[in-house]
Amino acid sequence: MPLSSLIQSRRVILCAGSGGVGKTTTAAAIGLAAARLGRRTLCLTIDPAKRLAQSLGLDRFDTDARLVEPSLFRDADLVVPGSLTVMMLDTKRTFDQIVERHASSPEARDRILHNKLYHYVSTALAGTQEYMAMEKLHEVKQSPDFDLIVLDTPPTANALDFLDAPERMIDALDSAAMRWFLQAFQSTGRLSFNLLARSAALAIRGIGRFTGGGFLEDLAAFLAELNDLFGGFRQRAREVELSLRAPDVAFVLVSSTSPLATAEALFFADRLASMRMSCDALVVNRVHLPPRFTPSESDISAAISRSRLPLGPAASMRLLSALRDELREAELDERRLRSLDESLRRFANPPLRVDVPAFPRDVHDLSALDQIARVLVRQLQTTSPDACHHV
Ligand SMILES: Nc1ncnc2c1ncn2[C@@H]1O[C@H](COP(=O)(O)OP(=O)(O)OP(=O)(O)O)[C@@H](O)[C@H]1O
Ligand SMILES: [Mg+2]
Repeated sequence: MPLSSLIQSRRVILCAGSGGVGKTTTAAAIGLAAARLGRRTLCLTIDPAKRLAQSLGLDRFDTDARLVEPSLFRDADLVVPGSLTVMMLDTKRTFDQIVERHASSPEARDRILHNKLYHYVSTALAGTQEYMAMEKLHEVKQSPDFDLIVLDTPPTANALDFLDAPERMIDALDSAAMRWFLQAFQSTGRLSFNLLARSAALAIRGIGRFTGGGFLEDLAAFLAELNDLFGGFRQRAREVELSLRAPDVAFVLVSSTSPLATAEALFFADRLASMRMSCDALVVNRVHLPPRFTPSESDISAAISRSRLPLGPAASMRLLSALRDELREAELDERRLRSLDESLRRFANPPLRVDVPAFPRDVHDLSALDQIARVLVRQLQTTSPDACHHV
């Protein structure tokens, strides 16, 4: 199914991939494409580059949902019949809201929120950010204000971490060692360092590294409180996981052309297939395309002298060598894409591959984002004849 059909028909599009390949950029470009196709779109983004956030009218630390002002689209010469709302994920705030929703009493809620360890668990515990991204998705999916939600995913080193994260987080909080620890605390009412030294070591391995006096008591008291929420967490994790399996969810994997990134994207697609979910599209970002023309050395020298720029023969040599580098990179990418195509044959439903060219500059304004949107969705029209000049 072409990406335009996915964008027009699905409720959720999740962009995943390894670190730095362009997930946030792709999610924002899909969001823009959807708005340009008339959908009311929410892009749930994670730590976008400062200039990209600014170009969407977002303050970097602002985590409320923000409608991208129609005047920004007009200024960029874009016709946008739908709307684009951008929201930055705030892991800690999302966690707070879950505690507020699931705590057994206002007092229990306050004890958890004010516990010294809560800050660590809600921000730094492995998997928390990914789990909270899923939580937020689950929440906004119920909203009637949006037709489509595009979910960017956190910068995990490994794309697969995203799928495993909720389980990892819950396991860390609810490991056998933790339960043992909790029981010991609850049966004696207080903790003895000597008695619990070994199990505490295990528990600490599960939850992170802490030092300092009173730590074990704090940890135990905190876990006893958090225990109230475990049922809520587990049930919600299951709901969230189920909601990812719904047929209205599309997975878009993002990769660069680097063999490591494509191998990871393929692993992710295998994993989805083994969970009977499918990867709908594979966006290969920053592809080096062959230069449209390859001038000879004398063409370059002639162009330089025609331009009357004060450039010597060394400049034409540098230009030529830059062109040769570009050609080499394009050839390398072409070979890599051919081998990627071979690998994609192993899927019963191979994802659609969409190549996005490497732009000479970072993608940090609406018109650059729109160029990507137009590569992803071919039918989007440019509205100004020179809107393509960056490519
Ligand atoms: N096609 C492209 N051409 C040129 N620059 C690009 C392209 N795609 C993305 N970039 C730039 O690459 C950088 C990384 O992109 P982005 O932030 O989208 O990656 P990410 O996968 O979200 O990273 P992280 O894993 O850290 O979240 C940004 O500065 C972005 O502007
Ligand atoms: Mg990102």
